[in-house]
Amino acid sequence: MRILVVGSGAREHAVLRTLVKERSRIMHDLFVVGGNPGIWEIAEAARLDADDCALAESDIQGIIKFTQQKKIELVIIGPEAPLDAGIVDALHAQNSSLLVFGPTKAAAKLESSKIFAKEIMRSANISTAKAWECSTVEEVKKVLNELEQMGSSHFVVKADDLAAGKGVVVAQNVADALSHAEKYLVDEKKVLVEEYMQGPEFSLFFICDGQRAIPLMPAQDFKRIFDNDEGPNTGGMGSYAPLDWLPNSAVNWATDNIATPVLNEMKKHGTPFVGVLFAGLMYTRTGIKVIEFNVRFGDPETQVVLEALKTPLSKIATLAAKGELEKLEELTWSSEHFCNIVLTSAHYPESSSKGDVIKGISQAEAKGAVILHAGTAFTGADVGQLVTNGGRVLSVLARGKDLKTARDRAYNYARMVTFQGAQMRGDIALRAANDQISI
Ligand code: AMP
Ligand code: GLY
Repeated sequence: MRILVVGSGAREHAVLRTLVKERSRIMHDLFVVGGNPGIWEIAEAARLDADDCALAESDIQGIIKFTQQKKIELVIIGPEAPLDAGIVDALHAQNSSLLVFGPTKAAAKLESSKIFAKEIMRSANISTAKAWECSTVEEVKKVLNELEQMGSSHFVVKADDLAAGKGVVVAQNVADALSHAEKYLVDEKKVLVEEYMQGPEFSLFFICDGQRAIPLMPAQDFKRIFDNDEGPNTGGMGSYAPLDWLPNSAVNWATDNIATPVLNEMKKHGTPFVGVLFAGLMYTRTGIKVIEFNVRFGDPETQVVLEALKTPLSKIATLAAKGELEKLEELTWSSEHFCNIVLTSAHYPESSSKGDVIKGISQAEAKGAVILHAGTAFTGADVGQLVTNGGRVLSVLARGKDLKTARDRAYNYARMVTFQGAQMRGDIALRAANDQISI
C-alpha cells in the first residue's frame, strides 16, 4: 500500500514503525510530510516532482498534489493542527476515493472547542465534570466564588480553543484561576470553568468509522515536568500500557457509554467522526468521567499502545476510513508490558534547547531499546551529527514480562542516551509497578 503519514513527532515515528513491522505480511511504500531523522530512516520525505523542498505540514495544497503524483492510497494524520485546518475535507474534495484516517474540520471540533465537546457530551448524556461557559471575567469570578463557598479545594479553568496544551489550569485558589481566565478571555473568546474531579487518569483511544468505535489498549501518560506530578504541564513525559489496575469492565463500559453515544451524537449533528477518538478519562469515586476529547492519537501514549498492537494498523485505518469497521476481526495484542520514558531538552517546557549533541542511541538500541525521535535534527552537511531540536527529544521504550521489568529496562536504556541538559522524570509508571494505584 502507498501510505502517507503527516506529522513530525515520536507519535508519527511510532505509527510508521508499526507500518514497517507489517512488511513481513503487507508491503508498503511509506512517505511522510514533516518527519525527523529517525522517521526519515523508514519513510521517504514527501517532495513534489521537480521540487527539492520537502513539503510542510501546513501546505495542504502541496499535500493534495503529492497524493496525486505518488498515487497515495491511505493518508494518516498525526497532529491536531492540520485536522483543525481542514486537511481531511480538502483531501476528500480533491479525491473522494482517497482513504483518509482522521476527522473532518467539523468533527475535529471535539478537540478544538471544549465548549462544543461539552455540548455533545450533554446531549449524549455522557458523564463528565459539570461546566460553566463564561464570556467575561465577572462571570468567571461569580462561578469560582460559588465553587469556593461550596468547599471546592481546586479550581479548573479551560480555554475554549486549541492552546497547545497550555489552556487548562487546575489552580489551588480563586485568584490564580481567575488570572488564567483573564489571559484567554480576549478577542471574544470564551472559557469553561469546571467542577474539580479526583481519581487516577487514563487515556483510551477508539478507532472510529463514523458509526462504530473499536477501543485500543488503555494507557497512562504523565503530563507534568517533575516527579510526583509537580511543575508545569508538558506535552507528555512518559507512558505505559497495559493498565493492570484498571478493572476489565472499564473499556467495555467506556465504549458503550462514552464512545458510541458520541459517535451517534456526531452523526445526528451531520458531522460523523472518522479517525481516533481519544478520551482522556478519570476513574472517580462515582465512576469513569470524561476529562477531555482529542481527535487523534495521543503522544506519548501511542508509542506504547502501538508497540503492543499485533493487528496490522494499515488494515485498521483502511477499514475505518472506508466506514467498514464491522469487517475488522478482534484486535490482537502482545501479552507483554511496555514503558516509555521521554527525554526532553534543557529548560523544557518553558523553552527548549537546540543543537545539543545526542549520544548513546545505537548502544541502547543494541541492548533492545526502541527509540522514537521527536525533536532531533542532523547538523553538518553529509553524515551530520544528531542533535536536539526541540522540547521533547526522544521516546525511549522497553518491553517486559511485567511492568516492573519493562520499566527497569526503559530507565536503563534512557540513561544510556545522553545530551547536555537532558531531563527525564524518575517516576514514570512507578506507582502502577508498585501496585499503588487504587480506585
Ligand atoms: P485537559 O487538557 O483537559 O486534558 O486537562 C489537562 C489536565 O488537567 C488533565 O490531564 C487533568 O489532570 C487536569 N484536569 C482537567 N480537567 C479537570 C477537572 N475537571 N478536574 C480535575 N482535573 C482536571
Ligand atoms: N497525551 C496527551 C495528548 O496527546 O494530548
